[in-house]
This record gives sequence, C-alpha cells and structure tokens, in this order.
Amino acid sequence: MAIKISPSILASDFSVLGSEALSVQEAGADMLHIDVMDGHFVPNITLGAPIVKCLRKRVSLPFDVHLMISEPLKYIPDFASAGADLITFHLESDSDPGECISLIKSLGMTPGVALKPGTPGEEVFPYLEKLGMVLVMTVEPGFGGQKFMDSQLSKIRLIKKECEKRGIAPDIQVDGGITDETLPLCAEAGANVFVAGSYIFKAADRKTAVCSLKSFPCQLCP
Ligand code: DX5
Ligand code: ZN
Repeated sequence: MAIKISPSILASDFSVLGSEALSVQEAGADMLHIDVMDGHFVPNITLGAPIVKCLRKRVSLPFDVHLMISEPLKYIPDFASAGADLITFHLESDSDPGECISLIKSLGMTPGVALKPGTPGEEVFPYLEKLGMVLVMTVEPGFGGQKFMDSQLSKIRLIKKECEKRGIAPDIQVDGGITDETLPLCAEAGANVFVAGSYIFKAADRKTAVCSLKSFPCQLCP
C-alpha cells in the first residue's frame, strides 16, 4: 500500500497555526493530523472544534482528527461540522466504540480507532470490518517528542495479519516518535499511514523531511 504522511500540528507554532498547516500542505503531506486533548483522557490540553473550523477555511488537506478525549461520542458532531474528514477515537475512552463508529460514518466521515501502547491488538478485532483506519500508538498519548516504542511493532503485525486473513485492508496508522529510521520498521510490520510531529515541524526543510519519509526522490529537494 502507498505510504501516506500525516504531519501532527502538535509540534507546530500555534501562534501561526494556519501558516504552519499550509507549510506542510505545500511540502507534500497527504493529510493533516490534528491532536485533540482534553486534560482528562490525557494529561495535556490542546485545541477544539472552533480552531479546526478556522483551519478548514485555509487548508485543503484532508483533516485526520485524533481525539484523545473522554466522551468522544458527545463531540464527534462538532468536529464533523468543523470539517474533519477522518475521526479517530480511543478504544480506551468511555464511549461505546460501535456507537462512535456509526455516528462518524453517518456524518460522512471515515472512522478510526486508536490503541494505547498497553492495549492488546486483539481488542480492535470486533470492529475491524467497520473501520477505515486503525491507529497503533507508538508512544503514550499526550505529548509530542517522545521516544518510539518498538514494543508496538508486534501489535502492528498482529493487526495486519488479521486484516489479511479477513480479506480487508483498513489503513494502519502509527503515531509517536516517527522518523526516517522508525518509519521503515513500522512499514515492514504493515503500517501505511505515518504521523510525524517533531520530525517534520522541527526540520530545517519540511519538504525534505516529508520526502525522506516517503522515500521517493524529489527533484525539488536540495
Ligand atoms: C501524541 C500525539 C502525536 C504527537 C506525535 O499523543 O498523538 O500525534 O504529536 O509527535 P512526535 O511525532 O513528535 O512523536
Ligand atoms: Zn496523534
């Protein structure tokens, strides 16, 4: 499957968020990863639907919204109205996963389910057929700039194998500590969508960073 890159705006300069988002659109990103944190499900607070709505007016990339919040079911309609294309909620949250998936689909978006590092891969199996994406967290959710957990590679393999067994191919996304060194490990295990915050936003040249992750030669790169 083709590799897709989803830069996480968590690592961007929030004082100029619109320009930051546009910079990765111009750098060749495939989607924009928007980390929503509520200070309850994870020990950090970021942004909500009103900011996503403002970004939607300026940025044409598909919005990949990662909800790290309690009660995701309650907030899914707000993010739909704000312009989300894909909504990923955590299986460990307190909303019913089946209800969240149905609601996301009924609002015309793609549903994704995220698993924290401690959650066994088998827990997503009952929902696999209904999902457009499975997100395997390769750090504890809450903060950017953490070290990649290679203990999660076996979970990616397990989910990929189960999908192949069933003849389905949801995207498998990884998030946390993704670099040009860790991406190939995840790709080999079966992931095809890669979230990268620090690696892209802190790079000297964002286009070069995106290209190095996609591993294709880009004539525009220095
Ligand atoms: C962490 C977030 C990630 C984070 C990744 O909870 O879900 O999307 O921004 O940042 P890096 O790529 O710096 O690990
Ligand atoms: Zn994320």
